[in-house]
Amino acid sequence: MRTFSWFFSFFSFSVDLHKRQPKYKSKHNTMHVEHVKTQITTLIDSDFLVEKKLQAICDYLKSEIAHYDWVGFYFKNGDKNELKLAQYAGEPTDHIIIPFGKGICGQVAVSNQNFVVQDVSEQENYISCGWKVKSEIVIPIFVNGKNVGQIDIDSHTVNPFTEKDEEILEFICAKVSQILT
Ligand code: SME
Repeated sequence: MRTFSWFFSFFSFSVDLHKRQPKYKSKHNTMHVEHVKTQITTLIDSDFLVEKKLQAICDYLKSEIAHYDWVGFYFKNGDKNELKLAQYAGEPTDHIIIPFGKGICGQVAVSNQNFVVQDVSEQENYISCGWKVKSEIVIPIFVNGKNVGQIDIDSHTVNPFTEKDEEILEFICAKVSQILT
């Protein structure tokens, strides 16, 4: 009887552990692109205000994708040539304002191109948000062809990104663009 109860408690502990595993393991190639796109579309189509949708996207991506340790949106700050931090999920950062051209984010503000940095230690024009950050991806957001902001992801893993990250994040930026207009 004792053996049985030990067996069952071990079994239920294993089931609990299994439930607590993150949906996407740190192997980015297990990311389910279509699933993430569906979830994002549901959020975008919800009745939330724009700010709440952007916050929900940050929270969702950070919790669902294991190699996303910080997720945030930066937007052009009025008519100034600088970016201002909007919604984010992860540790607070000192870098609320980033001048155009500075760091990975500031470079994307002027290049209008995706910037995938698999190892931040190889970048000279990089603004550090802490020693834990090892890689970063920034994808611009366009409204009527104008670069108005970006989504910025920091990862604590070196070399984590694939074309799947760019596909998901470009999809998100296009959806966000629709709700900004
Ligand atoms: N690392 C960024 C600064 C912003 S943080 O990642 C939140 C950069 O180099 O632009």
